Amino acid sequence: MTVYLNGEYMPIGEARVPVLDRGFLLGDGVYEVIPVYARKPFRMAQHLARLQNSCDGIRLANPLDAARWTALIGDFIGRQDFADQNLYLQVTRGVAKRDHAFPQGAQPTVFMMANPLVTPTAEQFDAGVPAVTANDNRWQRCDIKSIALLANVLLRQVAVDAGATESVLLRDGYLTEGAASNIFAVKGGTILAPLRNHLMLPGITYDTVIELARAHGLPLEVREISEAEVRAADELWLTSSTKEILPITRLDGRPVGSGKAGPVARRMLALYQTLKETP
Ligand code: PDD
Repeated sequence: MTVYLNGEYMPIGEARVPVLDRGFLLGDGVYEVIPVYARKPFRMAQHLARLQNSCDGIRLANPLDAARWTALIGDFIGRQDFADQNLYLQVTRGVAKRDHAFPQGAQPTVFMMANPLVTPTAEQFDAGVPAVTANDNRWQRCDIKSIALLANVLLRQVAVDAGATESVLLRDGYLTEGAASNIFAVKGGTILAPLRNHLMLPGITYDTVIELARAHGLPLEVREISEAEVRAADELWLTSSTKEILPITRLDGRPVGSGKAGPVARRMLALYQTLKETP
């Protein structure tokens, strides 16, 4: 696998960062995951805008502007020998003597890798996945796509330890998101989406689902969603760039709605697939 590190391409086994990199020592950096279908990045402008927001959120000067990111990513995609890619990019505050305070004059570290993009199969969509609820104990800036993911790691492991795929996070009795995804509910045919605020990552897939619902006149409410509403939902979905729209069909061991993928999820996935083909 060819990766990109600070201006150079190299096999992944040869890519090295110094141990004083602030990403390694302090988790001081931000990242993006961009899905690439048939060598075309999906919603690249939105991902780059979110990267800029993440950089602004941690007061890090983005080392590249959107045009240069676009050119670099385009070149990088062309170097991979698979067409559907899960493109990961990361920017850290660079290498400096360890100190919490920002270093003077450090160059940001820029890293990119691509793995084959494996989206859920039709069978996996139909069956859906199990999830568990967990207490969202993360910080107050979940809108920043930070590489400091320890809380997300621990919360995701809660699901894995319970034999589930994802943790549905509740903060003060309200739905925020998943450990590595956004969460939607459906009740009586209406799609319910949690408020897009600092307590969740503004998912590009989340935004796309809302855009599609509005464009196609599907009933939608973007508002606070209580734990009781989560538990009484007809459908629950998780969304992300790699999982697309994936039904949650069991929550804390109990079936969600019919216990299978619901009709609104099916409609939304069809709209999403069409958009992927004609972005
Ligand atoms: N995660 N919320 C969290 C906490 C996430 O980590 C992700 C994605 C999302 C969905 O965002 P998007 O639709 O833009 O992928 C929401 C990526 C895939 C990851 O960390 O690998």
